[in-house]
Amino acid sequence: MDSQPFSAFKLSIFILNVIPIFLLASRSLAADASYATPASKETICKFTPNPSYCKYILPNHTTNVCDYGRYAVRKSLSQSHKLLNLVNKYLQRNSTLSKSAVHALQDCQLLAELNVDFLASSLETLNNTNQTLPSSKAEDVHTLLSAVLTNQQTCLDGVQETSSSSSSWGNLQNGLSVLLSNDTNLYSVSLALFTKGWVPKKKDEEAITWRKQILHNVDDVLVRGTVTVSQDGSGNFTTINDAVTAAPNSTKGLKGYFLIYIKAGVYEEYVNVAKNKNYLMMIGEGINKTVITGNRSVVDGWTTFNSATFVVVAPCFVAVNMTFRNTAGAIKHQAWTSYSETQQLYSKTCNIYPRLPMRGQFNAITAQGRTDPNQNTGISIHNCTIRAADDLASDNGTTKTYLGRPWKEYSTTIYMKSFIDGFIDGAGWNKWNGDFALSTLYYAEYKNKGPGSNTSSRVTWPGYHVLKKAKEAKKFTVSYFLLGKKWLPQTGVPFSGGLI
Ligand SMILES: *[C@@H]1O[C@H](CO)[C@@H](O)[C@H](O)[C@H]1NC(C)=O
Ligand SMILES: *[C@@H]1O[C@H](CO)[C@@H](O)[C@H](O)[C@H]1NC(C)=O
Ligand SMILES: *[C@@H]1O[C@H](CO)[C@@H](O)[C@H](O)[C@H]1NC(C)=O
Ligand SMILES: *[C@@H]1O[C@H](CO)[C@@H](O)[C@H](O)[C@H]1NC(C)=O
Ligand SMILES: *[C@@H]1O[C@H](CO)[C@@H](O)[C@H](O)[C@H]1NC(C)=O
Ligand SMILES: *[C@@H]1O[C@H](CO)[C@@H](O)[C@H](O)[C@H]1NC(C)=O
Ligand SMILES: *[C@@H]1O[C@H](CO)[C@@H](O)[C@H](O)[C@H]1NC(C)=O
Ligand SMILES: *[C@@H]1O[C@H](CO)[C@@H](O)[C@H](O)[C@H]1NC(C)=O
Ligand SMILES: *[C@@H]1O[C@H](CO)[C@@H](O)[C@H](O)[C@H]1NC(C)=O
Ligand SMILES: *[C@@H]1O[C@H](CO)[C@@H](O)[C@H](O)[C@H]1NC(C)=O
Ligand SMILES: *[C@@H]1O[C@H](CO)[C@@H](O)[C@H](O)[C@H]1NC(C)=O
Ligand SMILES: *[C@@H]1O[C@H](CO)[C@@H](O)[C@H](O)[C@H]1NC(C)=O
Repeated sequence: MDSQPFSAFKLSIFILNVIPIFLLASRSLAADASYATPASKETICKFTPNPSYCKYILPNHTTNVCDYGRYAVRKSLSQSHKLLNLVNKYLQRNSTLSKSAVHALQDCQLLAELNVDFLASSLETLNNTNQTLPSSKAEDVHTLLSAVLTNQQTCLDGVQETSSSSSSWGNLQNGLSVLLSNDTNLYSVSLALFTKGWVPKKKDEEAITWRKQILHNVDDVLVRGTVTVSQDGSGNFTTINDAVTAAPNSTKGLKGYFLIYIKAGVYEEYVNVAKNKNYLMMIGEGINKTVITGNRSVVDGWTTFNSATFVVVAPCFVAVNMTFRNTAGAIKHQAWTSYSETQQLYSKTCNIYPRLPMRGQFNAITAQGRTDPNQNTGISIHNCTIRAADDLASDNGTTKTYLGRPWKEYSTTIYMKSFIDGFIDGAGWNKWNGDFALSTLYYAEYKNKGPGSNTSSRVTWPGYHVLKKAKEAKKFTVSYFLLGKKWLPQTGVPFSGGLI
């Protein structure tokens, strides 16, 4: 079991409030003037991470990059339908499968459904134009196509981490793994051709000058409904899941947020915000007062994905003044405290308290999972406080804690303007496995404070950077979180658009 990346890696985040970011074109292949001119597929495929696979799937006739791109996205859509049908079929003959195998397949079912939606929606935008898109539109599609890869990888990780003695699962696991990896290549081609064909080289001024903007009051939010959750029965519901279920299903053109006020209390629930629950806002009574906690763990037969306390697959979700905690923590194999589908969870007050892991392990605070150079995902930890939780602090430094480990090849993480306490190891970052990802990852630190922030003895990997200029760090702030830009300002969540 320890050879599996996830189980070997006992991430034990106590409170995780990170601001995921959308990196713009920093390493991607932005479109150039030649996008509309016909080119051979050999030429076009040079711009993709896996040229030989690209040449293998693209049609032989010579056309422009957008046409090739549409072909790839259409093919991706049909493959994601195929995967979904296959998973549905396996689930129907579930009697021979273990509980954990069924969980893994159910994750894949959910993720494949999302991928079908994401790809169809991308195609709708890409169908009618051979020209670069306006930046906000380009960024929407970029996010969807990036998420498609993340979803596929999440499904694959779940399938691979599920072990079972039954031979039927063994066969199924191998078959699915081959199919999933194969389609990952296809999705990677789609994303690369999209970046080449439709993403403008320069973002609009409008996108860049989105200024610091702090709203303090939910009165500024357009609200279409409000309910209260309270454990003592004084609200509309006693559980968060009931409130989520009661939220109206999304329909096109639906405007405004559905507010769920959650009274103080510890809610032992696994909250799942399904994809048809757009524009939900949860407001607690305060950090550590309204707490969502859970204790599922991989050891108990849950996949890493569905052991998350809180799963959000709906767009435009916001949570304020509350804490997510997974109590299985260090004792069981790690579980993410929250998982947000397009990685757009924004939370204001940010305190990160790593806990003491099991004996002999070491901690890493983040493990970002970017698998493809063209994805626009990453983690930005901005204006946060990183201190050891009590158990780790009383360990007197015998357990090493790092800012991150490259779980996937293109892991992208930055810490900026945060307080880093002395318990973080001087090297700062730790390897995953040999020199895996050390040149492809992107790790950076910018103007952090505190005893653990000294970068003089940090790792010297090619992908690690100490940023000096605000201009470089700016790429990682919420302003670049472009999808967010469209909806955060109307939420009333206090946030800051640029560098604080
Ligand atoms: C493209 O051409 C190659 C050889 O020239 C052939 O093997 C292949 O089947 C063709 N692919 C398609 C999609 O027509
Ligand atoms: C398991 O299979 C039965 C019979 O085909 C079906 O009714 C049930 O919904 C399946 N369970 C899941 C979780 O798919
Ligand atoms: C895209 O266009 C093709 C033909 O031009 C059409 O068959 C297909 O339905 C369109 N897809 C979407 C999502 O609009
Ligand atoms: C895009 O370019 C292709 C190939 O030149 C052409 O067939 C297609 O009609 C164009 N589509 C649009 C919407 O301009
Ligand atoms: C891999 O993908 C290609 C293109 O989508 C497909 O033609 C091929 O059959 C796939 N191979 C496997 C083993 O699934
Ligand atoms: C929630 O409770 C309040 C006060 O008890 C009531 O006015 C409101 O109609 C309820 N809302 C829903 C959606 O049931
Ligand atoms: C949302 O849709 C589901 C089925 O898709 C239905 O069961 C449920 O009642 C709907 N909820 C609301 C609040 O309309
Ligand atoms: C929340 O709880 C943690 C750990 O128990 C504590 O260190 C922190 O100060 C608390 N934060 C607030 C805002 O009360
Ligand atoms: C997890 O929570 C459930 C439900 O409250 C409880 O029955 C179970 O004992 C807990 N498991 C662990 C390992 O704490
Ligand atoms: C969150 O809590 C802070 C302080 O407890 C309060 O000032 C702020 O208004 C709250 N935010 C919302 C959206 O309720
Ligand atoms: C940054 O964090 C501090 C507390 O750590 C908080 O007081 C401050 O309001 C935060 N700044 C912004 C702009 O959120
Ligand atoms: C840490 O050091 C303190 C004081 O020196 C000591 O009392 C405590 O037992 C030590 N804890 C561990 C886990 O070694």
